[in-house]
Amino acid sequence: MLNVVVLVSGGGTNLQAIIDAVESGAVTNTKVTGVISNNKNAYALERAKNHGIQGICISPKEYASREEFNVKFLETVDALKPDLIVLAGFLVVIPPAMIEKYRNRIINIHPSLIPSFCGTGFYGLKVHEAELERGVKVVGATVHFVDEGTDTGPIILQKAVEVQQGDTPEVLQRRVMEQAEWKILPHAIDLIANNKVKVEDGKVRILE
Ligand code: GAR
Repeated sequence: MLNVVVLVSGGGTNLQAIIDAVESGAVTNTKVTGVISNNKNAYALERAKNHGIQGICISPKEYASREEFNVKFLETVDALKPDLIVLAGFLVVIPPAMIEKYRNRIINIHPSLIPSFCGTGFYGLKVHEAELERGVKVVGATVHFVDEGTDTGPIILQKAVEVQQGDTPEVLQRRVMEQAEWKILPHAIDLIANNKVKVEDGKVRILE
């Protein structure tokens, strides 16, 4: 059974997609045992509570230094003994010590087709604003392993979504979530839970 801990900062629609997929059996061999938020008002914590999942809040704002926070943050994660850490709209930088300790056991959902519209400053609605500004016709989402860079780790799954005339950033964000994020994130977890994801030479191979 894959013990999954989900890290969130906001609304938690991706967390909800994971919970729903586990409950429906679309994702197998998986249990979500904890949700960690840096924001005590995150609706994601409410979603966890509604499904009997332990929710924990830990914010950098409560610590004198980032180093102190990073130590406590790693302790908090370790205490849940995760096999897989899922970043689902988590906006805090992952400490290098956590990346090292959980190498190829941390995944992130990013709302674009990496390597487009990713890296520092590209998160949430900003991604979709930049896509519409550039006038691209195809966008999408990516699930990838987390390494020391920003959105640079091995890519697990991607799904494309078409831009439509008259899209606003909000409308496009919603379509990318519905058509891509809420599908590929649970699917990636299912693949990992069933030992179908291998990382070789910095690239992912999916076993059939
Ligand atoms: C999602 O669109 C996710 O891809 C994005 O934040 C949103 C969180 O929504 N993540 C990033 O931009 C990370 N760079 P949610 O809280 O409703 O799942």
